[in-house]
Amino acid sequence: MSFPWQKPGLTADQQAAAVVAEMTTDEKFAWLSGPMAIPLKKGDTLPPEAIGSAAYYPAIARLGIPALQQSDASLGVSALGGVRPGDHATALASSLALGASFDPDLAQATGEMLGREAFGKGFNVQLAGGANLIREPRGGRNFEYISEDPLLTGVMAGHSVRGIQSQHVVSTVKHFAVNAQETGRVLADSRISESALRESDLLAFELAIDIGKPGAVMPGYNLVNGDWASENHFLLSQVLKGDWQYPGWVMSDWGATHSATKAVRAGLDVQSGANLDKCVWFDQPLREAMTQGEITTAQIDNMIQRILRSLFACGAIQHPAQRGNHLDYSWHQLIAQREAEQGIVLLKNDQQTLPLPPELTRIVVIGAHADKGVLAGGGSSAVTPQGSLQQEGVDFMGIQTPKVYHPSSPLVAIRRNSLAKQVDFVSGESIDAALDASQGSDAVIIFAEEWRSEALDAQGLDLSDHQNRLIDRLSAVHPKVVVVLETGGAVTLPWLDNVPALLEAWYPGSGGGEAIAGVLFGRVNPAGRLPITFPASAQQLPHPEQVDPSTTTSLPGVEVKGEIFKIDYDVEGADVGYRWFERQQQKPLFPFGFGLSYTQFRYEDLQLCQTSGEITASLTLTNCGEREGSDVVQIYLRPTSGRYPSRLVAFRKVTLAPGASHRISLCIEPRVVAQWDSTEQNWSITEEEYDIYQATDAATPVLKGKLTLTAQTFGYR
Ligand code: BGC
Repeated sequence: MSFPWQKPGLTADQQAAAVVAEMTTDEKFAWLSGPMAIPLKKGDTLPPEAIGSAAYYPAIARLGIPALQQSDASLGVSALGGVRPGDHATALASSLALGASFDPDLAQATGEMLGREAFGKGFNVQLAGGANLIREPRGGRNFEYISEDPLLTGVMAGHSVRGIQSQHVVSTVKHFAVNAQETGRVLADSRISESALRESDLLAFELAIDIGKPGAVMPGYNLVNGDWASENHFLLSQVLKGDWQYPGWVMSDWGATHSATKAVRAGLDVQSGANLDKCVWFDQPLREAMTQGEITTAQIDNMIQRILRSLFACGAIQHPAQRGNHLDYSWHQLIAQREAEQGIVLLKNDQQTLPLPPELTRIVVIGAHADKGVLAGGGSSAVTPQGSLQQEGVDFMGIQTPKVYHPSSPLVAIRRNSLAKQVDFVSGESIDAALDASQGSDAVIIFAEEWRSEALDAQGLDLSDHQNRLIDRLSAVHPKVVVVLETGGAVTLPWLDNVPALLEAWYPGSGGGEAIAGVLFGRVNPAGRLPITFPASAQQLPHPEQVDPSTTTSLPGVEVKGEIFKIDYDVEGADVGYRWFERQQQKPLFPFGFGLSYTQFRYEDLQLCQTSGEITASLTLTNCGEREGSDVVQIYLRPTSGRYPSRLVAFRKVTLAPGASHRISLCIEPRVVAQWDSTEQNWSITEEEYDIYQATDAATPVLKGKLTLTAQTFGYR
């Protein structure tokens, strides 16, 4: 039997249209809303075909269309609430680690891995592509996002999505847009001017969508300029489907739909997690809106067309996901390990403390359950591989999500990577016991952790007092204390001056222990660069005060309590992260883009040019140290008039053998240079002189140049 969409030579749009033409109204409505495919309360059951995941929409077998099985998220195929007992998955390092790699090829490879696992577990939609700008350094989900910079975020998220979709699995990008904090995530109204929005958060999504062509976009829980993101005409119709001509579908976040007619008119196509909402808006109320002529059949058809065309475009219908496909978890773990290795940032290394020499006699490892594994972030993205250590976590949407340590023990890996006669572990719970254990050791490696989760922002920027005291006391008596951070974002480091070596390992995933040990002992030459600024204190932030989490709810759905509150993001506008620090002339603890290596690099001969609109910067990079290593060449630009602070306009990761030189040329992304003109509704580059410089981080220029750019305007119409 053949189906209408199988006619040779049809485009994805034509294939989709052929199916829509045959669908009944009930078949269409069955795809417009759906409950979470996880039993939430006793007695809840799933349709027999549902695998058990974030969502399931039934197959249309007579038309050869498989069921939609949707799973979370960006960091692996998660099984929220333990919905698929025994089904374990590979945990990627947090997206911050991916951001720190500055390596789009790696993003694509980790995306492919994720897509392969999703496909082999029977899923054809992966709720991945976290692409929010990290505006709020204390945000609970920052570990699911990539960076504070639109170019880095857009490029990396785009490549990750491209990797996922290459495996016939649709990916989302989420949570569109300005969904910067968890506290009151269903009540927070992000206020920001159009130009600032276009030049920051929207630009990250725009680039990710250009590069990755994700099949779906998920708006956030929050409001943007007074309207919920899921019924925000400006975001969904004017920008996404209008200016960007986005052809895919818009699915709400789970329990984030607030209306039928308004939402559809604004551009929402699917009500996800409808059982968490006050009402299944996209069933009876939407049917009534059709009867009353508020919504037309053509609008409904367009909503379905968008879903189907995305599925056809990545081959999800032609190559249906194969549940039970053999998955090579050992290979996947190596991919996750490589990501963690590339994302670890060496923040301090006095007197070449690192790499540790292999022939130490006794090493003491302390804290953060480093004997068992490495910390993971919590919430819908949390993957729990077999053998994970689980502790009490957080309740969100009525589901208990544990605090998980992925089973990749740094202690075991340290033992494997060193020739030390003795490697001991102490929990760190008792500082005195840790001091005792450290006596007579050659090196002390302290693991310090900071747990964040969906629905749980960090309160302040500090590690726990206990961990700070532990590090203080040990570094006061021991000369060789190495600190390894496992954090969901920036933290303050009051003991920094007393510690000779410091690594930021983020949440490093299934290969995390081995990756950390690889850097500690020099098998891996660290090359990560900070994708976020580390502030010296919360006082330096555009929003030093946090909303008290006890006054708001973070939970979506029926139980939304509390008042909508505004967050004025025009304070910093488009000057997020390092741009804010430059504008305020503040010195952070560590700037965006910073990271050390075990080798050194030299930069020479910066050339700038603009030919037929294209701006390029070229320079020669030399590895002048004694080991092979990778550097991230970073190019920043700022108008000499100071109209806006420096912006990262190009980057490239380059690996060089010792003594090797390479001439590289980087194209500058014009949308990062331009400013958005809200009156004319277009981008414009002002004719004036610009400082364009290569820097080792956002605050440390090395090669400086100037170029007068010619005026340019460009838009969408
Ligand atoms: C999260 C989404 C996720 C969805 C489905 C929501 O709580 O915000 O990122 O995809 O749940 O699990």
